[in-house]
Amino acid sequence: MSHNTIEINRAMDRSMNLFDGRHSVWLFGYGSLIWKADFPFIERRPASIAGWVRRFWQGSHDHRGTPDAPGRVVTLVPQENAVCHGMAYLVTPEEFLHLDHREKNGYLRLPIDMRFDGGGSEKGLVYIARHDNAAYLGEASELEIARHIAGARGPSGPNVEYLVHLAHALRDMGHEDEHVFAIERHLAGLGR
Ligand code: SIN
Repeated sequence: MSHNTIEINRAMDRSMNLFDGRHSVWLFGYGSLIWKADFPFIERRPASIAGWVRRFWQGSHDHRGTPDAPGRVVTLVPQENAVCHGMAYLVTPEEFLHLDHREKNGYLRLPIDMRFDGGGSEKGLVYIARHDNAAYLGEASELEIARHIAGARGPSGPNVEYLVHLAHALRDMGHEDEHVFAIERHLAGLGR
């Protein structure tokens, strides 16, 4: 699969009539979408999804790295009994023009059930970079990931900034993420 997912996401919208008659759609964010809401939203609520874990296994060619020297950003990996905490946004369908462009480096926009921290649940969408996208980097130890992140930068800034913002946002929301916090500790050990 190509690493530019804009056309694939649009084709899925057409075939599934996803936005027909909809005035608003819930989007679940678990990475930069938690701490960088550069789009208007109607409502924002802390939420979680079941059966997925957050992993720094996706390459970034366009934000935190370049095609020649990709950075590492998060995607979701299926894992039984896991719960991934993040932020849900209620947005108008038009926002996906901007969001699909922002998330174009390998992320497919897929349906998901989300549960709000305050109670209740909704169906919505989530961007997931699957292992079959061309920018996927895959598993590595948390120390290797920290070393990789320490050396990467792209048009949106240093890769380390992405990790630090995410770790702080998760902590502020009162959530543990052992993978993210372990990489953060390694980065501190590397003097970053
Ligand atoms: C997300 O935050 O939900 C997707 C990954 C990212 O943009 O960092």
